[in-house]
Amino acid sequence: MRKINVFDTSLRDGEQMPGIALTVKEKLEIARQLERLGVDIIEAGFPASSPGDFQAVKEIAETVKGSSITGLARAKKSDIDSAWEALKSSAEPRVHVFLATSPIHMEHKLKLTPDQVVERAVESVRYAAEKFPHVQFSAEDANRSEWPFLKRIIEAAIDAGASVINLPDTVGYRTPEEISKLFEFVTENVKNIDRAILSTHNHDDLGMGVANSLAAISAGAGQVECTINGIGERAGNAALEEIAVALQIRSDYYQAKTGLKLSELKRTSALVSRLTSMNVPGNKAVVGANAFAHESGIHQDGMLKNKETYEIITPELVGATSTLPLGKHSGRHAFKTKLNELGFSGSDEKLQTIFSAFKQLCDKKKEVTEDDLYALIADATDDQ
Ligand code: KIV
Ligand code: ZN
Repeated sequence: MRKINVFDTSLRDGEQMPGIALTVKEKLEIARQLERLGVDIIEAGFPASSPGDFQAVKEIAETVKGSSITGLARAKKSDIDSAWEALKSSAEPRVHVFLATSPIHMEHKLKLTPDQVVERAVESVRYAAEKFPHVQFSAEDANRSEWPFLKRIIEAAIDAGASVINLPDTVGYRTPEEISKLFEFVTENVKNIDRAILSTHNHDDLGMGVANSLAAISAGAGQVECTINGIGERAGNAALEEIAVALQIRSDYYQAKTGLKLSELKRTSALVSRLTSMNVPGNKAVVGANAFAHESGIHQDGMLKNKETYEIITPELVGATSTLPLGKHSGRHAFKTKLNELGFSGSDEKLQTIFSAFKQLCDKKKEVTEDDLYALIADATDDQ
């Protein structure tokens, strides 16, 4: 099994989501939980972007020692200096330098020629490598870049001292098949690629962030960049919890594993949701409130007989619990089990009366609570 490094960017790319602004204290609380979860690398922020971000990265670097801490820097000396000041006390100082490599970004955003972009990348990676033991170079918008140019700039960055090369799908444009081909091309054609770890970083604009990350892992990526609950710019980033659980449940297919303590996933998701005020949709894979809830009668009956009938992930794996919420689709088997849990031990005839009253109530109310069930039991008993 290949070990995949998990690089969490909830505190940097995730925090770029409109509506999120975390305090230093909140960032520290999330970083500690990410450490408990077993994340390999925490991108704690972008030190040169604001005094608050600088302070957060510095405090996290000083406090969190179980994960490697990194910070983002544009390909310029002042950003790298700022990152060094914030990160120098971390266990393994690591900087994340990025520069765009796609024609549209180079021409319209950077207003630089491809030769100037290579020159700036080399100069910054070399400068960063004089201070940091680990330097990651990201070719921003790599997935819309020309492959011969990517090959050239990656080779130059590795020669200048980069130990991680990240190929982001910055605008969430690619499909899993296309991402696979890019990673295969880089693995097979870039000189000295074995001196660096290849990383994948995918946005979710077309809803393919997680699928693209898994495809890149299959095609050779040794690091995956993601966020808790998929928070991030626009439609967000690939969701950490979905990638981690897919690798675990389908280890037969991916032949790769993470070092995460998966039972911390639900708690991490809840903390990030609470501190960012970004609600997790009920039907969100792995951490949504309904991810382990079974309402229909046929499913509840199957679950009561053997959980594997309808659950491929055990809720305990991610620190959640399974529920059989009672609603209009529920059947007699789950209903009887629930009533017995509430202390009902009457006859089958009485059970049938309560079940009929319950179905009528379901047509009037979205959610039938335990209090409603106690009331139905009491009504049936009073009628005697
Ligand atoms: O999406 C992106 O390209 C980024 C880079 C800074 C890595 O977030
Ligand atoms: Zn990004």
